[in-house]
Amino acid sequence: MNILNNDRPIGFFDSGVGGLTVMNKVKKLLPDENYIFFGDTAHVPYGEKSKKQLLEYSDAILKFFEQKHCKAVVMACNTTSSVIYDDIKDKYNFKLYPVVQSVAKVLANLNVERMGIFATKATIKSGAYEREIAKYNNNIKVYGQFCPDWVKIVENNLLENTDSISQVKSDLEKMMQNSPEKIILGCTHYPYLLGILSKFAPKEMFIDPAEPFAQFIKEDLTSCGLVRNKSDKKYEEFYTSANPKQFRESAKLFYKLDKAPELIKFSTSS
Ligand code: DGL
Repeated sequence: MNILNNDRPIGFFDSGVGGLTVMNKVKKLLPDENYIFFGDTAHVPYGEKSKKQLLEYSDAILKFFEQKHCKAVVMACNTTSSVIYDDIKDKYNFKLYPVVQSVAKVLANLNVERMGIFATKATIKSGAYEREIAKYNNNIKVYGQFCPDWVKIVENNLLENTDSISQVKSDLEKMMQNSPEKIILGCTHYPYLLGILSKFAPKEMFIDPAEPFAQFIKEDLTSCGLVRNKSDKKYEEFYTSANPKQFRESAKLFYKLDKAPELIKFSTSS
């Protein structure tokens, strides 16, 4: 394959189905691209993993994307963007888009003084959202809160379960004590919970970073001359490192996969 050819795919990766919400939004803006998605379900939740583990998992996946000749890779995962992006950003032969850094400017311009961030433990502990937003606006007070059960609720498709609803409600009540004007859903899995969250607070309060992220990716690929300009012979490929059937089932709400993804296992030490 000609490695300068714009037919080369855009890769997406995440710890599970969550990243599909990002891919969906990018596909709407760039419908003629070829796409490859990798959900690392063998290692979900990333939010509980060490930096060393995240570096190891991501390296295997990013090398896989190099073999697939990706022209760009979207780090849909907030946790890897927050914890390891700075360490690996120049290591691979494609454009790499990290979610947190790519949306910080838009969030900084939201015209609010108090902003909540729901994200994984690793993302909150890294302070990445506060740090990136402060590069553009340091008058915003950011309240980070991690929600240990939310990823499990989504990956296991427990959205209708009464315990899940009570847990989300109670986490939201805790956040509301900070009186945030907007709350960022800073984990790819959390937009799946918008139906529950909006029962207890106005829907407009929640921001899914995937929206501005998709716009950023489109603008950047366009300015780099990397957009595919034909609509025929497109393809989409899906891979996962565990439980392909479960992946397809959990993805259903947002993404109809014609068949279960292909199983690929990389050898990692943990
Ligand atoms: N989806 C990832 C994120 O955006 C992590 C969820 C997890 O695996 O803990 O942070």
